[in-house]
Amino acid sequence: MPGKCYLLPHDHQSERMNALKNKERRPAKRVQAAAPNRPARGPAAAVKPQPARQASRSPEKAAKPASAAVPAETRALLARQGERPPERVPVILESSGAGDFHLIDSGNGLKLEQYGPYRIVRPEAQALWQPSLPPHLWEKADAVFTGDTDEDGMGRWRFPKDALGETWPLSLLGVDFLGRFTAFRHVGVFPEQIVHWDWMKSRAEEAKRPLKVLNLFGYTGVASLVAAAAGAEVTHVDASKKAIGWARENQALAGLEKAPIRWICEDAMKFILREERRGSRYDIILTDPPKFGRGPNGEVWHLFDHLPLMLDICRELLSPKAIGLVLTAYSIRASFYSIHELMRETMRGAGGVVESGELVIREAGLDGKSPGRALSTSLFSRWVPA
Ligand SMILES: C[S@@+](CC[C@H](N)C(=O)[O-])C[C@H]1O[C@@H](n2cnc3c(N)ncnc32)[C@H](O)[C@@H]1O
Repeated sequence: MPGKCYLLPHDHQSERMNALKNKERRPAKRVQAAAPNRPARGPAAAVKPQPARQASRSPEKAAKPASAAVPAETRALLARQGERPPERVPVILESSGAGDFHLIDSGNGLKLEQYGPYRIVRPEAQALWQPSLPPHLWEKADAVFTGDTDEDGMGRWRFPKDALGETWPLSLLGVDFLGRFTAFRHVGVFPEQIVHWDWMKSRAEEAKRPLKVLNLFGYTGVASLVAAAAGAEVTHVDASKKAIGWARENQALAGLEKAPIRWICEDAMKFILREERRGSRYDIILTDPPKFGRGPNGEVWHLFDHLPLMLDICRELLSPKAIGLVLTAYSIRASFYSIHELMRETMRGAGGVVESGELVIREAGLDGKSPGRALSTSLFSRWVPA
Protein backbone atom coordinates (compact mmCIF):
# COMPACT_ATOMS: atom_id res chain seq x y z
CA MET A 1 0.00 0.00 0.00
CA PRO A 2 1.43 3.34 -0.91
CA GLY A 3 1.19 5.93 1.75
CA LYS A 4 1.62 5.29 5.40
CA CYS A 5 -0.36 6.84 8.12
CA TYR A 6 1.89 8.99 10.21
CA LEU A 7 0.46 9.79 13.58
CA LEU A 8 1.55 13.30 14.32
CA PRO A 9 0.77 15.93 16.92
CA HIS A 10 -2.03 18.13 15.76
CA ASP A 11 -3.81 21.18 17.05
CA HIS A 12 -7.51 20.38 17.07
CA GLN A 13 -8.82 23.45 18.80
CA SER A 14 -10.60 24.95 15.81
CA GLU A 15 -11.90 21.61 14.59
CA ARG A 16 -13.29 20.87 18.06
CA MET A 17 -15.06 24.21 17.96
CA ASN A 18 -16.48 23.32 14.57
CA ALA A 19 -17.59 19.91 15.80
CA LEU A 20 -19.45 21.56 18.68
CA LYS A 21 -21.09 24.01 16.33
CA ASN A 22 -22.08 21.22 14.01
CA LYS A 23 -23.68 19.20 16.78
CA GLU A 24 -26.07 22.08 17.25
CA ARG A 25 -27.16 22.12 13.64
CA ARG A 26 -27.18 18.40 13.00
CA PRO A 27 -30.29 17.32 11.08
CA ALA A 28 -32.06 14.42 12.79
CA LYS A 29 -33.50 12.68 9.79
CA ARG A 30 -30.67 10.76 8.28
CA VAL A 31 -27.76 10.49 10.65
CA GLN A 32 -28.31 9.46 14.20
CA ALA A 33 -25.66 9.92 16.78
CA ALA A 34 -24.26 6.70 18.07
CA ALA A 35 -22.37 5.85 21.18
CA PRO A 36 -18.68 5.53 20.53
CA ASN A 37 -17.90 2.21 18.92
CA ARG A 38 -21.57 1.38 18.43
CA PRO A 39 -23.27 2.15 15.14
CA ALA A 40 -26.56 4.01 15.15
CA ARG A 41 -29.77 2.20 14.35
CA GLY A 42 -32.48 4.13 12.62
CA PRO A 43 -35.35 3.54 10.26
CA ALA A 44 -32.95 3.81 7.35
CA ALA A 45 -30.55 1.29 8.77
CA ALA A 46 -30.84 -1.91 6.81
CA VAL A 47 -27.39 -3.23 7.38
CA LYS A 48 -25.65 -3.25 10.67
CA PRO A 49 -22.07 -2.11 10.19
CA GLN A 50 -19.42 -4.30 11.68
CA PRO A 51 -17.96 -2.71 14.78
CA ALA A 52 -14.47 -1.43 14.20
CA ARG A 53 -11.94 -4.11 14.96
CA GLN A 54 -10.30 -3.69 18.25
CA ALA A 55 -6.68 -2.98 18.79
CA SER A 56 -5.13 -6.36 18.20
CA ARG A 57 -3.34 -6.04 14.89
CA SER A 58 -0.43 -3.95 16.03
CA PRO A 59 1.30 -3.00 19.25
CA GLU A 60 0.83 0.63 18.29
CA LYS A 61 -2.93 0.16 18.41
CA ALA A 62 -2.88 -1.84 21.62
CA ALA A 63 -1.37 1.15 23.40
CA LYS A 64 -4.41 3.31 22.61
CA PRO A 65 -7.50 3.38 24.81
CA ALA A 66 -10.45 1.96 22.86
CA SER A 67 -12.30 5.27 23.01
CA ALA A 68 -9.51 6.98 21.11
CA ALA A 69 -9.10 4.18 18.61
CA VAL A 70 -12.45 4.43 16.84
CA PRO A 71 -14.28 7.33 15.27
CA ALA A 72 -16.26 9.18 17.96
CA GLU A 73 -19.38 8.94 15.86
CA THR A 74 -20.63 6.72 13.12
CA ARG A 75 -23.87 5.77 11.50
CA ALA A 76 -25.56 2.76 9.96
CA LEU A 77 -25.44 2.02 6.26
CA LEU A 78 -28.43 3.38 4.39
CA ALA A 79 -30.84 1.00 2.67
CA ARG A 80 -30.25 1.51 -1.03
CA GLN A 81 -33.13 1.04 -3.44
CA GLY A 82 -33.22 0.66 -7.20
CA GLU A 83 -31.13 -1.11 -9.75
CA ARG A 84 -27.43 -1.50 -9.43
CA PRO A 85 -25.76 0.68 -12.06
CA PRO A 86 -24.66 -1.16 -15.21
CA GLU A 87 -21.10 -2.37 -15.07
CA ARG A 88 -18.02 -2.15 -17.21
CA VAL A 89 -15.46 -4.79 -16.22
CA PRO A 90 -12.63 -5.44 -16.34
CA VAL A 91 -11.23 -2.04 -17.14
CA ILE A 92 -7.47 -1.82 -17.20
CA LEU A 93 -6.35 1.78 -16.96
CA GLU A 94 -2.81 1.82 -18.23
CA SER A 95 -0.24 4.54 -18.18
CA SER A 96 3.10 4.32 -19.88
CA GLY A 97 4.52 7.32 -18.13
CA ALA A 98 3.86 11.00 -18.42
CA GLY A 99 5.67 14.18 -17.62
CA ASP A 100 8.77 13.40 -15.63
CA PHE A 101 7.92 9.79 -14.85
CA HIS A 102 8.24 6.47 -16.60
CA LEU A 103 8.86 2.87 -15.58
CA ILE A 104 12.11 1.80 -17.20
CA ASP A 105 12.24 -1.88 -16.34
CA SER A 106 11.17 -4.38 -13.69
CA GLY A 107 12.02 -7.88 -12.54
CA ASN A 108 13.51 -9.96 -9.74
CA GLY A 109 11.12 -8.33 -7.27
CA LEU A 110 12.35 -4.83 -8.14
CA LYS A 111 11.43 -1.92 -10.36
CA LEU A 112 13.65 0.67 -12.02
CA GLU A 113 11.90 4.00 -12.47
CA GLN A 114 12.77 7.38 -13.91
CA TYR A 115 11.62 10.36 -11.84
CA GLY A 116 12.90 13.49 -13.52
CA PRO A 117 16.70 13.36 -13.46
CA TYR A 118 16.89 10.33 -11.15
CA ARG A 119 16.77 6.60 -11.79
CA ILE A 120 15.37 4.87 -8.74
CA VAL A 121 15.26 1.19 -7.73
CA ARG A 122 12.49 0.08 -5.36
CA PRO A 123 11.07 -3.28 -4.26
CA GLU A 124 8.16 -4.52 -6.39
CA ALA A 125 6.73 -7.85 -5.25
CA GLN A 126 4.69 -8.29 -8.43
CA ALA A 127 7.70 -8.26 -10.73
CA LEU A 128 8.16 -12.03 -10.80
CA TRP A 129 9.93 -12.06 -14.13
CA GLN A 130 13.53 -11.30 -15.05
CA PRO A 131 14.61 -7.73 -15.85
CA SER A 132 14.90 -6.89 -19.54
CA LEU A 133 17.87 -4.59 -19.12
CA PRO A 134 21.34 -5.85 -18.17
CA PRO A 135 22.56 -5.50 -14.55
CA HIS A 136 25.07 -2.75 -15.34
CA LEU A 137 22.17 -0.44 -16.29
CA TRP A 138 20.38 -1.15 -13.01
CA GLU A 139 23.62 -0.54 -11.17
CA LYS A 140 23.72 2.99 -12.55
CA ALA A 141 20.68 3.95 -10.45
CA ASP A 142 20.85 7.19 -8.47
CA ALA A 143 18.85 5.89 -5.50
CA VAL A 144 18.05 2.41 -4.20
CA PHE A 145 15.55 1.64 -1.46
CA THR A 146 16.71 -1.14 0.80
CA GLY A 147 14.97 -2.58 3.79
CA ASP A 148 11.81 -4.35 4.67
CA THR A 149 10.42 -5.90 1.53
CA ASP A 150 6.89 -5.81 2.98
CA GLU A 151 4.69 -3.21 1.45
CA ASP A 152 5.12 -0.06 3.52
CA GLY A 153 7.99 -1.57 5.46
CA MET A 154 10.62 0.71 6.92
CA GLY A 155 13.93 0.94 5.20
CA ARG A 156 16.50 3.38 3.98
CA TRP A 157 17.73 4.95 0.80
CA ARG A 158 21.16 4.28 -0.59
CA PHE A 159 22.64 6.66 -3.12
CA PRO A 160 25.26 4.71 -5.10
CA LYS A 161 26.56 7.79 -6.93
CA ASP A 162 26.23 11.20 -5.26
CA ALA A 163 24.43 11.79 -1.97
CA LEU A 164 21.06 13.27 -2.87
CA GLY A 165 18.88 15.71 -0.99
CA GLU A 166 15.50 14.68 0.41
CA THR A 167 13.53 16.35 -2.39
CA TRP A 168 13.82 17.23 -6.05
CA PRO A 169 11.50 18.94 -8.53
CA LEU A 170 9.11 16.93 -10.70
CA SER A 171 6.21 17.69 -12.98
CA LEU A 172 3.15 15.66 -14.01
CA LEU A 173 0.19 16.87 -16.09
CA GLY A 174 1.73 20.33 -16.08
CA VAL A 175 1.80 20.55 -12.27
CA ASP A 176 5.13 21.04 -10.51
CA PHE A 177 5.74 19.33 -7.18
CA LEU A 178 8.54 17.74 -5.18
CA GLY A 179 9.70 14.16 -5.42
CA ARG A 180 10.72 13.01 -1.96
CA PHE A 181 12.69 10.09 -0.56
CA THR A 182 10.53 8.88 2.33
CA ALA A 183 11.26 6.26 4.97
CA PHE A 184 8.54 4.01 3.58
CA ARG A 185 10.01 3.67 0.07
CA HIS A 186 7.52 6.12 -1.43
CA VAL A 187 8.65 9.08 -3.48
CA GLY A 188 5.85 11.56 -2.79
CA VAL A 189 3.64 10.58 -5.69
CA PHE A 190 1.84 7.48 -7.04
CA PRO A 191 2.24 8.03 -10.75
CA GLU A 192 -0.13 5.23 -11.79
CA GLN A 193 -2.94 7.47 -10.53
CA ILE A 194 -2.25 9.81 -13.40
CA VAL A 195 -5.03 8.07 -15.34
CA HIS A 196 -7.57 9.20 -12.72
CA TRP A 197 -6.05 12.65 -12.52
CA ASP A 198 -6.10 13.05 -16.28
CA TRP A 199 -9.76 12.01 -16.35
CA MET A 200 -10.55 14.48 -13.56
CA LYS A 201 -8.59 17.27 -15.28
CA SER A 202 -10.60 16.83 -18.49
CA ARG A 203 -13.90 16.85 -16.59
CA ALA A 204 -12.89 19.99 -14.68
CA GLU A 205 -11.71 21.79 -17.80
CA GLU A 206 -14.82 21.01 -19.83
CA ALA A 207 -17.24 21.89 -17.00
CA LYS A 208 -18.90 25.25 -17.38
CA ARG A 209 -18.57 25.86 -13.64
CA PRO A 210 -15.86 25.31 -11.04
CA LEU A 211 -16.25 21.70 -9.97
CA LYS A 212 -16.09 20.87 -6.29
CA VAL A 213 -13.55 18.11 -5.70
CA LEU A 214 -13.02 16.17 -2.47
CA ASN A 215 -9.69 14.34 -2.21
CA LEU A 216 -9.71 11.90 0.72
CA PHE A 217 -6.39 10.45 1.95
CA GLY A 218 -4.82 13.06 -0.32
CA TYR A 219 -1.16 12.58 0.78
CA THR A 220 1.18 15.13 -0.89
CA GLY A 221 -1.63 16.75 -2.82
CA VAL A 222 -0.68 16.13 -6.42
CA ALA A 223 -4.26 15.15 -7.33
CA SER A 224 -5.56 18.22 -5.48
CA LEU A 225 -3.18 20.46 -7.40
CA VAL A 226 -4.09 18.92 -10.76
CA ALA A 227 -7.78 19.54 -9.96
CA ALA A 228 -7.14 23.10 -8.79
CA ALA A 229 -5.02 23.90 -11.85
CA ALA A 230 -7.96 22.76 -13.99
CA GLY A 231 -10.26 25.24 -12.23
CA ALA A 232 -11.81 23.07 -9.48
CA GLU A 233 -12.47 24.09 -5.89
CA VAL A 234 -10.69 21.46 -3.85
CA THR A 235 -11.03 20.03 -0.36
CA HIS A 236 -8.03 17.88 0.54
CA VAL A 237 -8.13 15.67 3.62
CA ASP A 238 -5.26 13.76 5.19
CA ALA A 239 -4.51 12.65 8.73
CA SER A 240 -0.83 13.48 8.52
CA LYS A 241 0.26 16.98 9.39
CA LYS A 242 3.55 16.22 7.70
CA ALA A 243 1.83 15.20 4.44
CA ILE A 244 -0.31 18.34 4.54
CA GLY A 245 2.88 20.37 4.99
CA TRP A 246 4.38 18.68 1.92
CA ALA A 247 1.19 19.33 -0.02
CA ARG A 248 1.36 23.03 0.84
CA GLU A 249 4.98 23.11 -0.28
CA ASN A 250 3.87 21.54 -3.54
CA GLN A 251 1.13 24.14 -3.87
CA ALA A 252 3.72 26.91 -3.67
CA LEU A 253 6.01 25.15 -6.14
CA ALA A 254 3.12 24.72 -8.56
CA GLY A 255 2.37 28.44 -8.34
CA LEU A 256 -1.14 27.67 -7.12
CA GLU A 257 -1.01 29.60 -3.82
CA LYS A 258 -4.14 31.50 -4.73
CA ALA A 259 -6.06 28.44 -5.92
CA PRO A 260 -9.13 27.55 -3.84
CA ILE A 261 -7.82 24.54 -1.91
CA ARG A 262 -8.84 23.72 1.66
CA TRP A 263 -6.12 21.65 3.36
CA ILE A 264 -7.67 19.66 6.17
CA CYS A 265 -5.67 17.56 8.60
CA GLU A 266 -8.27 15.20 9.98
CA ASP A 267 -9.49 11.63 10.09
CA ALA A 268 -11.18 11.10 6.73
CA MET A 269 -14.20 9.29 8.17
CA LYS A 270 -14.79 11.94 10.81
CA PHE A 271 -14.57 14.64 8.19
CA ILE A 272 -17.07 13.08 5.80
CA LEU A 273 -19.53 12.33 8.63
CA ARG A 274 -19.43 16.00 9.50
CA GLU A 275 -19.76 17.05 5.87
CA GLU A 276 -22.82 14.84 5.56
CA ARG A 277 -24.45 16.49 8.58
CA ARG A 278 -23.63 19.89 7.10
CA GLY A 279 -25.22 18.93 3.79
CA SER A 280 -22.02 19.58 1.82
CA ARG A 281 -21.87 18.34 -1.76
CA TYR A 282 -19.05 17.52 -4.17
CA ASP A 283 -18.97 16.89 -7.91
CA ILE A 284 -15.98 14.56 -7.84
CA ILE A 285 -14.76 12.51 -4.88
CA LEU A 286 -11.42 10.74 -5.00
CA THR A 287 -10.71 8.31 -2.21
CA ASP A 288 -7.45 6.43 -1.93
CA PRO A 289 -7.60 4.76 1.45
CA PRO A 290 -4.74 2.72 2.84
CA LYS A 291 -5.41 -0.79 4.11
CA PHE A 292 -4.74 0.49 7.60
CA GLY A 293 -4.26 4.01 8.88
CA ARG A 294 -4.81 6.31 11.81
CA GLY A 295 -6.40 9.69 12.15
CA PRO A 296 -4.62 12.47 14.03
CA ASN A 297 -6.41 11.53 17.25
CA GLY A 298 -5.69 7.84 16.98
CA GLU A 299 -8.89 7.07 15.05
CA VAL A 300 -8.42 3.71 13.38
CA TRP A 301 -9.00 3.14 9.70
CA HIS A 302 -9.33 -0.48 8.53
CA LEU A 303 -10.28 -0.71 4.90
CA PHE A 304 -12.20 -3.96 5.28
CA ASP A 305 -14.18 -2.63 8.25
CA HIS A 306 -14.79 0.93 7.18
CA LEU A 307 -14.90 1.09 3.40
CA PRO A 308 -18.64 0.26 3.06
CA LEU A 309 -19.59 3.13 5.34
CA MET A 310 -17.09 5.46 3.71
CA LEU A 311 -18.58 4.84 0.26
CA ASP A 312 -22.10 5.10 1.68
CA ILE A 313 -21.33 8.55 3.08
CA CYS A 314 -19.48 9.58 -0.09
CA ARG A 315 -22.60 8.80 -2.09
CA GLU A 316 -24.57 11.19 0.13
CA LEU A 317 -21.92 13.83 -0.51
CA LEU A 318 -22.26 13.62 -4.29
CA SER A 319 -23.91 16.66 -5.83
CA PRO A 320 -27.01 16.28 -8.02
CA LYS A 321 -24.75 16.84 -11.05
CA ALA A 322 -21.94 14.67 -9.78
CA ILE A 323 -19.24 13.63 -12.20
CA GLY A 324 -17.60 10.75 -10.40
CA LEU A 325 -16.72 8.79 -7.30
CA VAL A 326 -13.31 7.20 -7.69
CA LEU A 327 -11.87 4.61 -5.33
CA THR A 328 -8.36 3.18 -5.49
CA ALA A 329 -7.14 0.36 -3.27
CA TYR A 330 -3.61 -0.93 -2.88
CA SER A 331 -2.19 -4.08 -1.34
CA ILE A 332 -5.37 -5.71 -0.24
CA ARG A 333 -6.16 -9.37 -0.52
CA ALA A 334 -9.19 -8.87 -2.69
CA SER A 335 -10.26 -8.96 -6.28
CA PHE A 336 -11.37 -5.78 -7.99
CA TYR A 337 -14.81 -7.40 -7.91
CA SER A 338 -14.93 -6.80 -4.14
CA ILE A 339 -14.77 -3.05 -4.49
CA HIS A 340 -16.72 -3.16 -7.77
CA GLU A 341 -19.78 -4.86 -6.27
CA LEU A 342 -19.56 -2.70 -3.16
CA MET A 343 -19.58 0.38 -5.39
CA ARG A 344 -22.55 -0.95 -7.38
CA GLU A 345 -24.51 -1.69 -4.20
CA THR A 346 -23.69 1.73 -2.84
CA MET A 347 -24.77 3.43 -6.07
CA ARG A 348 -28.08 1.51 -6.45
CA GLY A 349 -30.66 3.68 -8.10
CA ALA A 350 -28.13 6.32 -9.15
CA GLY A 351 -27.94 5.24 -12.79
CA GLY A 352 -24.63 5.86 -14.51
CA VAL A 353 -22.10 3.09 -14.74
CA VAL A 354 -19.58 1.47 -12.44
CA GLU A 355 -16.30 0.55 -14.05
CA SER A 356 -13.62 -1.31 -12.19
CA GLY A 357 -10.36 -3.07 -12.71
CA GLU A 358 -6.69 -2.35 -12.22
CA LEU A 359 -4.30 0.54 -12.62
CA VAL A 360 -1.21 -0.67 -14.43
CA ILE A 361 2.02 0.91 -15.53
CA ARG A 362 3.71 -0.32 -18.67
CA GLU A 363 7.47 -0.50 -18.85
CA ALA A 364 8.79 2.06 -21.29
CA GLY A 365 12.51 1.30 -21.43
CA LEU A 366 15.42 3.64 -20.98
CA ASP A 367 14.13 6.05 -23.60
CA GLY A 368 10.60 6.08 -22.20
CA LYS A 369 9.28 5.00 -25.58
CA SER A 370 9.80 1.24 -25.75
CA PRO A 371 6.72 -0.58 -24.44
CA GLY A 372 7.42 -3.63 -22.31
CA ARG A 373 5.51 -5.56 -19.66
CA ALA A 374 2.55 -4.29 -17.68
CA LEU A 375 2.98 -3.95 -13.93
CA SER A 376 -0.19 -3.97 -11.88
CA THR A 377 -0.19 -1.40 -9.10
CA SER A 378 -3.67 -1.29 -7.59
CA LEU A 379 -7.38 -1.95 -7.88
CA PHE A 380 -9.88 0.73 -8.69
CA SER A 381 -13.60 1.21 -8.99
CA ARG A 382 -15.36 4.33 -10.16
CA TRP A 383 -18.91 5.43 -10.61
CA VAL A 384 -19.57 7.89 -13.38
CA PRO A 385 -22.89 9.25 -14.63
CA ALA A 386 -23.96 7.73 -17.93
C1 LIG B 1 -2.56 6.02 -0.25
S1 LIG B 1 -1.84 7.37 0.46
C2 LIG B 1 -2.64 8.51 -0.54
C3 LIG B 1 -2.00 8.63 -1.87
C4 LIG B 1 -2.49 9.82 -2.69
N1 LIG B 1 -3.92 9.75 -2.90
C5 LIG B 1 -1.79 9.90 -4.02
O1 LIG B 1 -2.19 9.18 -4.93
O2 LIG B 1 -0.79 10.61 -4.10
C6 LIG B 1 -2.50 7.26 2.08
C7 LIG B 1 -2.67 8.56 2.85
O3 LIG B 1 -3.71 8.34 3.78
C8 LIG B 1 -3.43 9.09 4.94
N2 LIG B 1 -4.25 8.51 6.03
C9 LIG B 1 -4.08 7.35 6.69
N3 LIG B 1 -5.07 7.15 7.59
C10 LIG B 1 -5.90 8.21 7.48
C11 LIG B 1 -7.12 8.59 8.12
N4 LIG B 1 -7.67 7.83 9.07
N5 LIG B 1 -7.73 9.72 7.73
C12 LIG B 1 -7.17 10.50 6.77
N6 LIG B 1 -6.01 10.21 6.13
C13 LIG B 1 -5.39 9.07 6.48
C14 LIG B 1 -1.94 9.00 5.13
O4 LIG B 1 -1.47 10.06 5.91
C15 LIG B 1 -1.46 9.03 3.67
O5 LIG B 1 -1.10 10.32 3.30
